[in-house]
Amino acid sequence: MNSSDRSGEAAAGAVLTVDLDAVAANYAMLGREAAGAEVAAVVKADAYGLGLGPVARRLAAEGCRSFFVADANEGAELRKVLPGAVIYVLNGLFPGTTALYGRHGLRPVIASLAELAEWRAAGVRLPVALHFDTGMNRLGMGAGDAALLAADEALTAGVEVALVMSHLACSDDREHPQNARQLARFREIWARLAPRFPGATASLANSGGIYLGPDYHFGMVRPGVSLYGGSPFTGRANPFRPVIRAEARVIALRELAPGETVGYGATWEAAAPTRIAVLAAGYADGYFRALSSGMREGESGGMVHIGGHACPIAGRVSMDMAMADVSHLPVDAVKRGDMAELIGPHIGVDEVGLRAGTLGYEILTALGRRYMRRYIPEPEMGSGTNKEGRGQA
Ligand SMILES: Cc1ncc(COP(=O)(O)O)c(C=O)c1O
Repeated sequence: MNSSDRSGEAAAGAVLTVDLDAVAANYAMLGREAAGAEVAAVVKADAYGLGLGPVARRLAAEGCRSFFVADANEGAELRKVLPGAVIYVLNGLFPGTTALYGRHGLRPVIASLAELAEWRAAGVRLPVALHFDTGMNRLGMGAGDAALLAADEALTAGVEVALVMSHLACSDDREHPQNARQLARFREIWARLAPRFPGATASLANSGGIYLGPDYHFGMVRPGVSLYGGSPFTGRANPFRPVIRAEARVIALRELAPGETVGYGATWEAAAPTRIAVLAAGYADGYFRALSSGMREGESGGMVHIGGHACPIAGRVSMDMAMADVSHLPVDAVKRGDMAELIGPHIGVDEVGLRAGTLGYEILTALGRRYMRRYIPEPEMGSGTNKEGRGQA
């Protein structure tokens, strides 16, 4: 479907507004907190679902020089958007893909001696990052590998190591003892490798890690979710500016008599005369089925805002629609065609995540492709975005 087929906002069931000024403000706030360290940006998974092209372009305009994606295909997409940026590929070097890195000027975040050997053998003359695992037990080399790399120059002969990094498992929780443990392990690794690779920078902190204090900053920090307005913390207020607003159109209103039920499975029953608004968004749009009323024990389910009023989801969220109980609203407060806020200033991405039994991260990255997307301010024409603001790259 091209943009002109769906450019009419009136025909859009759901609209997603991405505030690029808020992304820029969050980037600036992280810069102040990280004071002196380079603030890179993690833009994997289509910039956490917000749109790689517009988001990366804006971050570059704000002074961001280094970007992290998950795999080389994402890196190739980003390269079309930002010809001059430094692009690191977090998931390492998949077998047989060195040519792709060379073609698009991507830097692998090397996670094993085997990957390093493959990179060396291919002879690609691009800098790399070395990834060390300090407690996550996901990707990365161990302290033993760091000792080997420090002792044996042949292992990195001809390879320029630009970055030495690790990733924190518990940075959302300032009190978690794992943070200090990982910091100590990373410091040991960096102490071994810094003299061996004098041109390299060290990096440990994601969004939450930046707020663990200057000890965690090293030369570069790698925030993701905070740029997009999600909270990197548990049990603390979210200081970041909200970035997205997801709205669904009210496409029907219906009156129910007591005893009538709503939606699949007839799980919600009207106890009194009830007014229901039918909204044009469902789980295909990333409005999770877990937001259905009574879906999770002890949880009330989803909540939307219509005309400034909080309205609970009634019954099951289906693929393309969800129903909200608007009985408590003045009759003229909602009419067919109005927009209901699913995620936005009244009900943030983290609250939606909590209500769905997950995190703001998952809500952002699951935002569906069907939303009509609107970027504010609108990216400049000719900068490679179409009318919907999606990157063409
Ligand atoms: C290695 C690495 N660094 C940084 C980040 C960014 O993390 P956050 O979104 O919590 O800031 C991620 C995200 O998952 C990651 O995997």
